[in-house]
Amino acid sequence: GLAVGVAVAGGGHHAAAGYPDPFGTDEPYRDVIAEQFSSVTHENQLKWEFLRPTREEFRFEGADAVIDFAEQHGQQVRGHTLLWHSQNPGWLTSGTFTDEELRALLQEHVTTVVGRYAGRIAHWDVANEIFDDDGVLRTEENPFLARFGTSIVADALRWAHEADPQAVLYLNDYNVEPVGPKSDAYLALSQELLAAGAPLGGFGVQGHLSTQYPFPDDLEANLRRFTDLGLEVAITELDVRVPVDAAGRAEAGDVETQVDYYGRAVAACVAVERCTSLTLWGVTDRYSWVPGFFPGEGSAMVLDDDLNAKPAFTAVADAL
Ligand code: XIL
Repeated sequence: GLAVGVAVAGGGHHAAAGYPDPFGTDEPYRDVIAEQFSSVTHENQLKWEFLRPTREEFRFEGADAVIDFAEQHGQQVRGHTLLWHSQNPGWLTSGTFTDEELRALLQEHVTTVVGRYAGRIAHWDVANEIFDDDGVLRTEENPFLARFGTSIVADALRWAHEADPQAVLYLNDYNVEPVGPKSDAYLALSQELLAAGAPLGGFGVQGHLSTQYPFPDDLEANLRRFTDLGLEVAITELDVRVPVDAAGRAEAGDVETQVDYYGRAVAACVAVERCTSLTLWGVTDRYSWVPGFFPGEGSAMVLDDDLNAKPAFTAVADAL
């Protein structure tokens, strides 16, 4: 069946970087994660910024805690992420490396991290957000793509596959819900990678939706373009943000739209046989990333600040 997941906030030493640590401190929050979901993802704990404070060091405690928790509760884990332009440590982004050194750094990272959790992480977002909205490779922002282009994506897939042959390896991005230049770029790259024998297994559609934009009506059709290639697909970071006032309150009309969008996004995944998991990017407005990233928007999660179910919670449950 379909795994229903949630991104878990916080985790150990991240508190030092100004991140909340509900996972370590908020018992009712942990109970919700344990009781309502069959899959978990690290919201931040597996990103380079946290795993790799220095070039020499790996700090796994925050990531380990989430994986241990998942195993105690019989949950699947989605790994996020190995190759991305954002949340990289300064030593990596402003360091000077030869091509060979940079490639070796990524290989070491992928081999070490995927190898550590081999057999324990079902899906890996190997590459995240590698194309811009026009479908152009993000070479300016991503130090690995800048040097090596898409060949580094193929390499990362191979290194990950060697480290954990069971893990299903994904490409993942936002604004790829509809058919368009960005999802077209992923479709073309997926075809190329598969033709070259790279161990690509899935395509992840993040699903950061806003009631201020139309719902991507062709989401299901777009997912099928990828399953037609033999890939599995997942909705990996679903949330639906709405305009809010200074107190964080949404208007009734927007709440209705939000409920509709949540229900339709879940229904699209349910309708596609090889859509194997659906992850909410957080569960409670109390710890949501949305207000900090989208000023004037919020209330994007299915539970409110006090962990009470909002209408969107029922919409998700009904659509499953
Ligand atoms: C976000 C986290 O939710 C925030 O806590 C963090 O400050 C920034 O990153 N796409 C992704 C996720 O792939 O990793 C991002 O997560 C949200 C957008």
